[in-house]
Amino acid sequence: MNKIKSGIYGLNSLLDGGINENSATVVIGCSGAGKTTLATQFIRRGLELGQEGIFVSLDENKEQIIKEAIQMGWKKIVDYIDEEKLVFIDASGHEFSAFIKRELPSFVADWKGANARISIDPLTPVMWSTPDRYEQRELIGFMLKETRKVGTVLATLEEHGMAGDLSGNETVIPMYLADCVIHLKSIHDADGGLQRRLKIMKCRSSRHSKTEHPYTIVKGLGIVVDPDNSTLMPSKKISEELAVILNQNKGNIPARVYGRLTEVLEDLRDDDFSSIKLETLMREIISEYMDD
Ligand SMILES: Nc1ncnc2c1ncn2[C@@H]1O[C@H](COP(=O)(O)OP(=O)(O)O)[C@@H](O)[C@H]1O
Ligand SMILES: [Mg+2]
Repeated sequence: MNKIKSGIYGLNSLLDGGINENSATVVIGCSGAGKTTLATQFIRRGLELGQEGIFVSLDENKEQIIKEAIQMGWKKIVDYIDEEKLVFIDASGHEFSAFIKRELPSFVADWKGANARISIDPLTPVMWSTPDRYEQRELIGFMLKETRKVGTVLATLEEHGMAGDLSGNETVIPMYLADCVIHLKSIHDADGGLQRRLKIMKCRSSRHSKTEHPYTIVKGLGIVVDPDNSTLMPSKKISEELAVILNQNKGNIPARVYGRLTEVLEDLRDDDFSSIKLETLMREIISEYMDD
């Protein structure tokens, strides 16, 4: 998997180096959590790297997003728009299901293989465009599949109701279809303070942090995540320990299995084994091939 830099300080190390190229990430959060900020940072980073940016806004209009980006310290956004490196698709007020079915295919035909960055902010109104769950799934699935042909996709999703409850239909379907899901949890505590926590809920084809990370939103920098309590340790002590155990048991497993495990060893990281003991793992490997 080719990794691309997200543009969000602290996030790449939680995703083992960055966002997978040509994947679809869904960012979930309540109002004010920083979804639009994150979507903008993601596009901005791509533009810096020479990629084109496509911002599909389904909520705020183009002018509002540009205004907020400038307020956050990104003045150069207007240059990218002038140079047509950054394109806005203002889909607010559209009838989305018809819009997606009718206009998306020709858009994708024009941009296919562009390796652009696409932000869809927010995806929620697409879910509302039909009450039928099957159709919702078809629509989101189609949208993510098609936009991935154009590049790497980041879509935001509004979180309603109880903070942290992601079990509603509205979030479950996009979460299921996305390759990577990031939750921005923004909670007012009893003292009136704001607790912001980021968590990677899932990430296909990548290691990722499993814990919550504090984040802040800073003018000029955007979202900044603290990766320091990450479980995603680069430490590879486990490889050495397992190599020793494997060697001791060389005679107890078939040669082909021994060869395969030796190859796997160098890619292993401490984080890959949360609580299982290496002795237990070895015992189970031996037992699996005992009768071969
Ligand atoms: N110019 C700014 N300086 C500092 N913080 C800002 C600025 N603009 C927005 N924010 C912070 O970002 C939050 C809103 O971010 P936004 O990306 O619009 O959230 P969402 O799209 O999830 O509703 C605000 O609640 C505020 O805390
Ligand atoms: Mg927003």
